[in-house]
Amino acid sequence: MTLAQLKQLKQNGEKIACLTAYDANMAHWVAQAGCEVILVGDSLGMVVQGHATTLPVTLEQMVYHTEMVARGAPDAWIVADVPFMSDATLAKGLEAAQALIQAGANMVKVEGGLPVLPLVHRLAELGVPVCGHLGLLPQSVLRHGYRTVEADEALIAAADALVQAGAEMLVLECVRSETAETISHSHAVPVIGIGSGPDTDGQVLVLQDVLGLTIGRTPSFARNFMAGADSVQSALRAYVEAVKNGTFPES
Ligand code: KIV
Ligand code: NA
Repeated sequence: MTLAQLKQLKQNGEKIACLTAYDANMAHWVAQAGCEVILVGDSLGMVVQGHATTLPVTLEQMVYHTEMVARGAPDAWIVADVPFMSDATLAKGLEAAQALIQAGANMVKVEGGLPVLPLVHRLAELGVPVCGHLGLLPQSVLRHGYRTVEADEALIAAADALVQAGAEMLVLECVRSETAETISHSHAVPVIGIGSGPDTDGQVLVLQDVLGLTIGRTPSFARNFMAGADSVQSALRAYVEAVKNGTFPES
């Protein structure tokens, strides 16, 4: 998978299917099911490490998981999260991106808008693909809680600024459906939604939510694709099919 192919999918109106994965085995099956994009999310702090938030996740740990995912799914487009505070300065952000790309990621993802613009711009100059992440920002949970604090106009402006700075993909988490649609239609780069309605260019969910393995509360926007499936592989295929044919998410 290449950036050009992902852009082409958007142009053709074919939805892009993405899931998180954190190890080689699951990355293999996620790719096998037809997900074009695999996110090595810092959600691993919660679903793999058992923490309450993503904040304890270190760059070293992201590198370790990115290496495993890259080995398991060499042909997928692998996006790795820059973890909490690893983009606190431009220099730290560049070092984090270097480590994640050298671990096998094809793209790095950073949370937020205006504060990360210098990093996004410099990475783009250096030829490193960057994904933005707007809306609900799990790394800001202590200050803002698990909610989207920015107004719709601010989100639209931040998306414009990120793409202008060189972002080649955007993730929108818990953004109002209409706003997510506006942002998706405003840019040529793929916009991947989670809890942001059906009108983005693709969807992403946390793997454990899709497989019914989540401990505690499952996000309301997620769906357990193991219900009615006779194997993990068929559940993953059902997710990809539902994203592709627009039956997930419901409007
Ligand atoms: O860490 C993660 O899994 C994410 C997705 C929820 C977008 O950032
Ligand atoms: Na994340």
